[in-house]
Amino acid sequence: MLRRSARAALTAVVASVAALALSFGGLAVPFVAPATATDLPCATTPTPKAVLPATSPSLRDLAAPRGLRIGSALAPNPLRTEARYRETAARELSILTPENQLKWATVHPQRDVYDFCAADQLASFAAKTGMTMRGHTLAWHNQNPAWLTDTAFSRTEMLQILHDHIAAVVGHYRTAFPGLVTQWDVVNEAVTDCGGTAPCPLRSTVWSQRIGPDYLDYAFRYAREADPAAKLYYNDYAIERPGRKLNGVLAQVDAMRARGVPVDGVGLQFHIGAYSAPSAADIAAAMTAVTSRGLDVAVTELDVAVGITGANATASQNQLGTQAAVYRRVLDGCLANARCTTFVVWGFTDAQTWLSPDQPCLFDKGYAPKVAYDALRDRLLDGTGERAGEVVVRQAEDSGHSGGGSVSNGWSLNTTGAAVYDDVALAGSTAYLASVLLRGTLAGGAWPLVEVRVDNVLAGTIEVNSMEWAPYDVPFSAPAGVHRVTVTFTNDYYNGDEDRNAVVDAVTVTTAAIEAEAMHVRTTGAPVPGGWALYANGNVANAWSIPATAQYAVRVVARGTPSNGTWPVLEATMDGVLVGRVNVKTWDWSTLTLTVPLTAGPHLLAFAFTNDTATPQDRNLFLDKVTIVATPAA
Ligand code: XIL
Repeated sequence: MLRRSARAALTAVVASVAALALSFGGLAVPFVAPATATDLPCATTPTPKAVLPATSPSLRDLAAPRGLRIGSALAPNPLRTEARYRETAARELSILTPENQLKWATVHPQRDVYDFCAADQLASFAAKTGMTMRGHTLAWHNQNPAWLTDTAFSRTEMLQILHDHIAAVVGHYRTAFPGLVTQWDVVNEAVTDCGGTAPCPLRSTVWSQRIGPDYLDYAFRYAREADPAAKLYYNDYAIERPGRKLNGVLAQVDAMRARGVPVDGVGLQFHIGAYSAPSAADIAAAMTAVTSRGLDVAVTELDVAVGITGANATASQNQLGTQAAVYRRVLDGCLANARCTTFVVWGFTDAQTWLSPDQPCLFDKGYAPKVAYDALRDRLLDGTGERAGEVVVRQAEDSGHSGGGSVSNGWSLNTTGAAVYDDVALAGSTAYLASVLLRGTLAGGAWPLVEVRVDNVLAGTIEVNSMEWAPYDVPFSAPAGVHRVTVTFTNDYYNGDEDRNAVVDAVTVTTAAIEAEAMHVRTTGAPVPGGWALYANGNVANAWSIPATAQYAVRVVARGTPSNGTWPVLEATMDGVLVGRVNVKTWDWSTLTLTVPLTAGPHLLAFAFTNDTATPQDRNLFLDKVTIVATPAA
């Protein structure tokens, strides 16, 4: 039941919508008032409470301080009938996209009839819960009404129809829900999928056939005219990585902008598969290709299919874990790009997804958050990323600095330790890595440049191309003794609001002698893309010859997924005796170090995943290579 004030506000919205219907009289367009909007808040069936504890932070709240809106495609039916759908959406989301309700077939079912009823229910819900809305979509080749597709309208008639539709639909939201619809997908999927290497051309559609290729220009111009404040997007699928389709889209957008057509952004849909998803580098490249042109980029329809085809099939641990890593990767990509401030999934629960019976969403069919949800939440909670287990020789003071300048600190490097891998002893190593934790802001078209010097000799120059804290490795050589590492920000820039900054936090120096000698371990676990999965009591073992009794750094490349707030634990044993354990608290492949005492001689080192749980959302541990290094003295 709505509280009185909320219901009063809703009634006011409905009244203003009804008033608008009258103002449409001049256009001779019968307007269907959203009579059922007031029914929206009533649950018809009692349903169990949503599973997240009330104290858990929501994605919406965690995203807000980053200037990011998290959203989903929503549909009015479950919003009316399913309390968990309504509550979860209201708690987790700060932007919504009507999944089908603004498509021509629904909103404009006959040439002289507009039906805003269903979309207005979503708009009312968005307004009531403090969300904004993406309008989707004004020109597309699918879900068009028969009156539009089956009549041989002339170019002039088609342009008039397109103009009137955009004026009516965009105008309706601008007037009835001022400020609510901040973005419109003006043109959807206009570029075809193609082979070859050339940029993909325009798709042949009812629009291109009857108007010509310039229908995009008209659509964007009409949309700007109807709402000068809204951001106007071109939206498409399969452009989440560099390639001919993205090139085709960019060619259209470039040409439009050269003609003065108002395009503000490109929406990357991100309908992707967990096992065929674009890499982090591809996502970054696709987003940068858009934003380096001075356009905004948005994640508009993300879902991550895992390949489930049976209605009652349960997702495997591997599917859930891999799906989670992909969700996180896309969020990472968005957070790393200053012009990506919208992150919308195409349905948030496996109970309501167009890909059913696949399970591509953040919540399961019972509205319990999946590992993928945890992945997004953890990424928003902890932007620094995990980089556990490095051998810290000495860590710099937290020395934030911006606006040009330098920080430096002294380290005592001890090079007498012996490093061993695979029977190769690398005694007296002098190779080091300075890992510098940095973040920066872009200005004047360039990222900050930071120079790292050891005893005043340049060891490397870093382009700090991320607004998030990230480690940058600079290799250097030095003999035993005390050395000074200096980190200097060199290309400061300031012009009005545009201010380039570089901020340095910790500097960590580690030995780097044996990274090149890494070898894959054998495993009893099943191969997974990029590594091995250790499930319940999974383990791998290999024989090593240890040259001397000493402390060693055993480095494992691993990634994991948590469950019930706890990450998997990897245990190392030497000849069956526990020598060390490490919390695998990282979604992405990372090098973790267990500092362990080993005795000289041939030994069997085994690695086991010990704290598996039997809940439906299982903990996972994926292990790749294992290397052994002698630890330097602190
Ligand atoms: C989908 C809806 O989710 C389905 O309910 C409907 O049957 C078909 O359309 N790209 C888009 C979306 O831009 O509008 C599509 O939505 C999914 C693909």
